[in-house]
Amino acid sequence: MKYDLPKNVRIINRTIENDQAVTLHLAVQIDFAPGQFLMIWIPGVDEKPFSIAGSDREGVMITVRRRGNFSRRLSGLDVGASVGVRGPYGKAFKLAENCCLVAGGVGFACLAPIADLFSHAPIFYGENTAKNRIYQKRFPRLNFYTVDGSGGKKGVPTDDLEALIQQQGCKMVYCCGPEPLIVKTMRISQSLGVDCQVAIERYMKCGIGICGQCVCGPTRVCVDGPVFDGLYLLNNPDFGHRRLDATGGWESIEVIQKEKRNHEN
Ligand SMILES: Cc1cc2nc3c(=O)[nH]c(=O)nc-3n(C[C@H](O)[C@H](O)[C@H](O)COP(=O)(O)OP(=O)(O)OC[C@H]3O[C@@H](n4cnc5c(N)ncnc54)[C@H](O)[C@@H]3O)c2cc1C
Ligand code: FES
Repeated sequence: MKYDLPKNVRIINRTIENDQAVTLHLAVQIDFAPGQFLMIWIPGVDEKPFSIAGSDREGVMITVRRRGNFSRRLSGLDVGASVGVRGPYGKAFKLAENCCLVAGGVGFACLAPIADLFSHAPIFYGENTAKNRIYQKRFPRLNFYTVDGSGGKKGVPTDDLEALIQQQGCKMVYCCGPEPLIVKTMRISQSLGVDCQVAIERYMKCGIGICGQCVCGPTRVCVDGPVFDGLYLLNNPDFGHRRLDATGGWESIEVIQKEKRNHEN
């Protein structure tokens, strides 16, 4: 177990992605690998996990989509404000150059460092509606899908995945997003005999394997994940079905997805 005290880190840049999401540039150099996350602390509010969405010479970035109190407070912080940062935590993606990326919603943040690394890799990215699109400037050329047809192609990012894998012979699929999208991606990859690695979310408190809050079947997502081999997850009894909420009670993934969609539309 690796425990760090939070470092006090300044926000040095703030990119507005859309009405609901911002990318915060944090003045801290972190030796991370794609797929890992940071615990971000706002004193007196809470501490929550966020994927490392990229880095440059000045520090690292996180992308925050507004949902509840914490993400609203974090995304509202201005340049010059500070947050507590600990990490990086979690298992990273094993990198393979001949790959493609399947991203849903703010799950794109977790895959963005792979897209930076392998700039030729095809990206399939979907949102419920076009106004939620992130990284318009950073990744202008990708296959964009919306469920309501308000931008890009009407549909979901897995719609053209099978055809692409067959045409281009990708050897690895990386995926992060809502669990139904992950399940679909894993099944397509499995049926074509292609490796698939996915990053998943569970409610996290400690982020370092102590509290058991992030359990998914026999694993703790903060230390055994958040990146898992797709085939392994297909046999995990909780994945795609249920997770613990803040109080430690089980909640259904289907119900969470419905609430998310209502919130975004
Ligand atoms: C490994 C990991 C990486 C993440 N990366 C990002 C990211 O890059 N960008 C981003 O916007 N969000 C990310 N999240 C989600 C983020 O941690 C918060 O959950 C989210 O911002 C909503 O929190 P809230 O308090 O504002 O909303 P709330 O209204 O309190 O919660 C909304 C929903 O968010 C989920 N949630 C709340 N707290 C947590 C928590 N401590 N851990 C996990 N899920 C929680 C629950 O499903 C809850 O129903 C990530 C979560 C995990 C586990
Ligand atoms: S968040 Fe505490 S064990 Fe994973």
